[in-house]
Amino acid sequence: MYYFIEPMTEDDIPEVQQIESQSFTTPWSANTYKREIRNAASCRYLVARGSTTPPPPRAGGGGSPRRLGIIGQIAAALFPSAPGAAPSCPAIGYGGLWLTVDDAHVTTIAVDPQYRGFGVGELLLNGLIDAAYELRAKMLTLEVRVSNASAQRLYIKYGFQPAGTRPRYYTDNGEDALIMWTEAIDTPEYQARLSELRRLLYARLQRQVADKRPAVRVS
Ligand SMILES: CC(C)(COP(=O)(O)OP(=O)(O)OC[C@H]1O[C@@H](n2cnc3c(N)ncnc32)[C@H](O)[C@@H]1OP(=O)(O)O)[C@@H](O)C(=O)NCCC(=O)NCCS
Repeated sequence: MYYFIEPMTEDDIPEVQQIESQSFTTPWSANTYKREIRNAASCRYLVARGSTTPPPPRAGGGGSPRRLGIIGQIAAALFPSAPGAAPSCPAIGYGGLWLTVDDAHVTTIAVDPQYRGFGVGELLLNGLIDAAYELRAKMLTLEVRVSNASAQRLYIKYGFQPAGTRPRYYTDNGEDALIMWTEAIDTPEYQARLSELRRLLYARLQRQVADKRPAVRVS
């Protein structure tokens, strides 16, 4: 299975809500997604798709270099987005962020349970980090349930560190939120770390294609 990311459109909302209902207890309404998607000045929402064949090349023959410099070029090489992809490719994950002043706040990220553990969450987080560069954010932040160890591990891998809690933040069960922040993302150190993580992720995704690993979890 080949995985790639695209900007979320309003047509994706039903599929996104399907994944969301399997991932979160307090889902957003379709109108909330529409509002977010339309707020292009400070929001970015992405979907991940899976395809059994390589996604078509980026429109314009591989894509023009983005103004993100080296990070954008690495991302373009490793994670080709496919604006012209076949409409039949299902959405298997999604994520989004807001820019608040100088910081990008990851608002949501989720992968269809059948596709978890194959690098799709990591691919989406990379897309969100690229979006943060595009919006010229200085750092990234998010809240995550204190019990959500798998998501925290993903965030720590990408340089997020715990920075306090919001008591009883989640209204469904009164659970605390852990607040996490990255360091400044425009430093050579962070960019070098990101490049290395992307190299490893790319190798993992390539291996999965070469091994013909099952496209979905079989157990
Ligand atoms: C969190 C989530 C998005 C991860 O997506 P995924 O596609 O399964 O994750 P990946 O396969 O890309 O894994 C990337 C990293 O995440 C962490 N991770 C993912 N699943 C994990 C698990 N079951 N246990 C521990 N760490 C895990 C690891 O650090 C992993 O890297 P590694 O394999 O090198 O150790 C997914 O589990 C999900 O949708 N969860 C429900 C929604 C949710 O909790 N979202 C976060 C809200 S704050």
